[in-house]
Amino acid sequence: MKTKTAKATATAHPNIALIKYWGDFDSNLHIPVNGSISMNLRELFTRTSVSFDPYLGHDQFTLDGRQVSGSGLERVSSLLERVRQMAGITISASVESHNNFPTGSGVASSASGFAALSLAASKATGLDLDEKSLSRLARTGSGSACRSILKGFVEWQAGSSDQESYAYSIAPPEHWDLVDCIVLVSQDEKPFSSSLGHTLAQTSLLQSVRVADAPRRLRICRNAIFNSDFDALANVVELDSNLMHAVMLTSSPSLLYWHPNTVTIMQAVQSWHKAGLPVCYTIDAGPNVHVLCPGDVSGEVAERLKQLSGVVKVLVTHPGGPAMLENGPLNP
Ligand code: PMV
Repeated sequence: MKTKTAKATATAHPNIALIKYWGDFDSNLHIPVNGSISMNLRELFTRTSVSFDPYLGHDQFTLDGRQVSGSGLERVSSLLERVRQMAGITISASVESHNNFPTGSGVASSASGFAALSLAASKATGLDLDEKSLSRLARTGSGSACRSILKGFVEWQAGSSDQESYAYSIAPPEHWDLVDCIVLVSQDEKPFSSSLGHTLAQTSLLQSVRVADAPRRLRICRNAIFNSDFDALANVVELDSNLMHAVMLTSSPSLLYWHPNTVTIMQAVQSWHKAGLPVCYTIDAGPNVHVLCPGDVSGEVAERLKQLSGVVKVLVTHPGGPAMLENGPLNP
């Protein structure tokens, strides 16, 4: 390891939060103020290779073929630094990452990116971290990345320390054929980073109410997943997304992530649901809308969405597996 290049490659899926993480209790370690629940997205992935190379003078990072510098490189480097400290080495690394979906558009590329990086970097140094340790490591890169380590439907327990704040799977992907039709209305980079949003959340009068009620929403969401109960899930998922966006809008300064077409889709989904179609929306920190529905109606839902004005693309995704090493699963 001291004289040879050591390399590993891993893939991880992004996830959609059904109950959202918004606001940190510790912003350095990304310890959240409330727990969250998500689903991994099978058709989307980040593939990351990490090579620790004694002949490199400093860390390097390329994303989709482009050299990254500044804060993007710093975030990757500080996760690598944690791995180096755990492994007791000082060698720099070269990181090459590819997303098969648009970066920075509300489809959480940082979640799959830091999950794949944590697995590849730790394996390349010879560390054999368990799921919990990997989840904690990924969390330090981007909070929601701790959920992309695990398979299927995943809960992140907030905890109040580095040791206690990690995610675990509550149901495997095959448990429920829940489909996320991701409606892209814009592929631009989002105007405000989620790190800024987490910091500003506490300036909203509504944040304390949102956080105080989180255990109740988490319980309803967990039970809806266990019972594959779409109606119960739809109500709590839309409520939770609306609460987070209410906090964003009432932060100081106010954060508005929606485009006019975002609202068109929200209204269409609400009217379809009212008319009896099992469907609901949830929106992360971006203008794109995640439209959830049971698998048996996903064809119809995707077709209806494509007819709406301003829709650039609809990506149909299903529950996905855990982060994986290129030549074997995380836990063989
Ligand atoms: O992990 P971050 O810092 O990119 O924050 C993610 C925030 C949301 O996507 C809006 C919610 C979530 O729980 O994923």
